[in-house]
Amino acid sequence: MQPHTMNVQDILVEQRGSDIATSSLDFRRESRMLFDDCAATYPAMDPYWGSFDELRRELDLDDLLPELAVAGGVLDAGCGPALHLRDMIAWWTTQAPGSRLQVTGLDFSKPMLARAVRELPEPVDSVRTRFVLGDLVQPDWHPPHLLDCVLCLNNTLGNIVGHDLHSVSADRLRVSADFRRLLRPGGLFLLSVFDRANLPRTDGTVSAYSRDRRIDTRLSDVARGDLVLWRNCADGDEHCCVSHWFTEKEVQELLKSVGFTDLHLCTIGPRILCSARCQ
Ligand SMILES: C[S@@+](CC[C@H](N)C(=O)[O-])C[C@H]1O[C@@H](n2cnc3c(N)ncnc32)[C@H](O)[C@@H]1O
Repeated sequence: MQPHTMNVQDILVEQRGSDIATSSLDFRRESRMLFDDCAATYPAMDPYWGSFDELRRELDLDDLLPELAVAGGVLDAGCGPALHLRDMIAWWTTQAPGSRLQVTGLDFSKPMLARAVRELPEPVDSVRTRFVLGDLVQPDWHPPHLLDCVLCLNNTLGNIVGHDLHSVSADRLRVSADFRRLLRPGGLFLLSVFDRANLPRTDGTVSAYSRDRRIDTRLSDVARGDLVLWRNCADGDEHCCVSHWFTEKEVQELLKSVGFTDLHLCTIGPRILCSARCQ
């Protein structure tokens, strides 16, 4: 495909406005249906996806290794097909062979979790893995112990949406506060989100990002980093998801406001990576 040189405003102008009555849309359900549909190919359609290796390198995870298995283990919130957990387990078993680790992947998409289970390599004695079908917006899962580490990666936090669009920032705040509550004092939160500064790039990456998705011009608010994206799904309908793009300042304010401390942020390509501590 030829790279386009256009900015996101051009793309928005090109798109048809949505004529769907949004008052009847349940955005959480829409989002789940879209992610269900993406499960088989994820993350092939997402050129902004970042690997566990990147996280490990940029956030100095090797130094933090001993902290990841004090008691409660690791939760990957919105784990998708658990590609990060898979790499994390491989890293753990090489770096700390024989040491016990408990990892939990949680997602609201059954097909994502089914793929995670299917593709997970042979179990290792020292690593206990489990998957939970659950909703971060309406959490009904509680780990038996406070966790050592929570991961929320590749803009899962930006995908958070409740039943309607008006409460997305409140939903994000609530979900972030839940992450902090799940962690033991001193526990580690690792986040990666999309960087709003990258939204209006003119090198074609934004058009690549929206390659198989249609940006809804009526419901999106580019200046605030809020996109609503539609995708043609296998059930013959279009379904939509929300994708919020963050500024570094916003990430800092959000995490501090729910009680995280010791924040370290870096921007790598289109992603903001952040590590933070539970007070
Ligand atoms: C962009 S994908 C990221 C997947 C994974 N974190 C990664 O980095 O590869 C977002 C994931 O979050 C899940 N998700 C979105 N909203 C959710 C919610 N409210 N509760 C649980 N999972 C959710 C989706 O099903 C999807 O698997």
